[in-house]
Amino acid sequence: PALEDSATRILSSLGGLEGPLLPILHALQAEFGFVPQQAVPLIADHLNISRAEVAGVISFYHDFRAAPAGRHVVRVCRAEACQSMGANDLAARLQEKLGIGWGETTPDGAVTLEPVYCLGLCACGPAVQVDGALMGRADIARIEDILSEAAE
Ligand code: FES
Repeated sequence: PALEDSATRILSSLGGLEGPLLPILHALQAEFGFVPQQAVPLIADHLNISRAEVAGVISFYHDFRAAPAGRHVVRVCRAEACQSMGANDLAARLQEKLGIGWGETTPDGAVTLEPVYCLGLCACGPAVQVDGALMGRADIARIEDILSEAAE
């Protein structure tokens, strides 16, 4: 019921906008931390589009999460400048260490790994963001340090 109430409120306040889908998804994510699966049919009905369209937009935009995030969120920049500084390798090693892929959360709920496309730190790549804090010239050891400090 809480979800339906929020979704209904968001839909009635934003549903009349031109191009309402993104603002609606942003509002839901701001409220819940992710876009709840149950909201998809409500949005589709309200905007008169298919559920597949709504789901497609959620998965297309990396800003949206389809599930709640873990206690920590590690975002790795995958844009060009960082790629040329080894971001792909860093990401691959992180995925291996954590045992998860993009957009996934470790089974203990500790860490969510997300791609991001430029954090504005292009001059000192690879750039990552750990729980909102930016890190330039990132490496696995520093990321693990922050995560273990945060876990204490
Ligand atoms: Fe990675 Fe800009 S390309 S921060």
